[in-house]
Amino acid sequence: MNEKDILSEQSKLTPADLTRQLRQHLDSLRAAGVYWLPAEPPQAGGGSDGAVPIANASGPSPADDREQRRHELTVLAERVSGCQRCTELVVSRSRTVFGVGPLDAELCFVGEAPGATEDQRGEPFVGEAGQLLNRIIAACGMKREDVYICNICKCRPPGNRQPTAQEAGNCREYLERQLELVRPKFICALGACAAQNLLGTSQSIGKLRGRFHDYKGIPVLCTYHPAFLLPGRSPHKKRDVWEDMKKLLARMGRPVPGR
Ligand code: URA
Ligand code: URA
Repeated sequence: MNEKDILSEQSKLTPADLTRQLRQHLDSLRAAGVYWLPAEPPQAGGGSDGAVPIANASGPSPADDREQRRHELTVLAERVSGCQRCTELVVSRSRTVFGVGPLDAELCFVGEAPGATEDQRGEPFVGEAGQLLNRIIAACGMKREDVYICNICKCRPPGNRQPTAQEAGNCREYLERQLELVRPKFICALGACAAQNLLGTSQSIGKLRGRFHDYKGIPVLCTYHPAFLLPGRSPHKKRDVWEDMKKLLARMGRPVPGR
């Protein structure tokens, strides 16, 4: 489908279509923790799509104060939920999947992109891979509610293909701002796509894993993606992931449970 098709498609939207789109938009926001919206539209003066710049390049750092950051994360999630940058993903997604977790989470997991379950629910890592991620988090002595979880790409690519470089690039601004606002102390990149995109490298996950890298001063531990560990794939690699997580816990100054 090319842009012209999509535009003529849009013009054929019925009131019922618009209602459905609005409901999906609001679902995406609620899943991202957005419970209220400003009564007035944000100031104009953004990019060519009429969007407002997420960060103000001049003036005091907008991420200084916690309430301000909470508000800006809300605005960012709202902007992402209406994003039209990737023509293919705009039509294939049910909703955007922004991220979940507390501000100032000590640890942030970054995955690749939503799958089918996440696309339905609007929350990252809630499908099969997510269940395994939950067990990994629990094995580390942490709670899912205490960590922040997001993805490189906020929309589900059709057929669970990897996000293209262009799609990841389109989403980069959102990810960077999200991390700037959440301010995790540590990041765990899950799988090759997340690790390579976050760090801007083409090294294999086998080479990247088990070591600390740097993202804007934040230590980044790379490990295998939980989907890679599922039955039928490479469950024997769970041992490697556990070794990686123990390194992360040591660096975080946390005990290894069961020791
Ligand atoms: N895989 C990912 O990379 N992210 C999700 O949110 C779910 C599955
Ligand atoms: N390939 C990936 O993309 N991720 C993994 O974790 C393992 C293999």
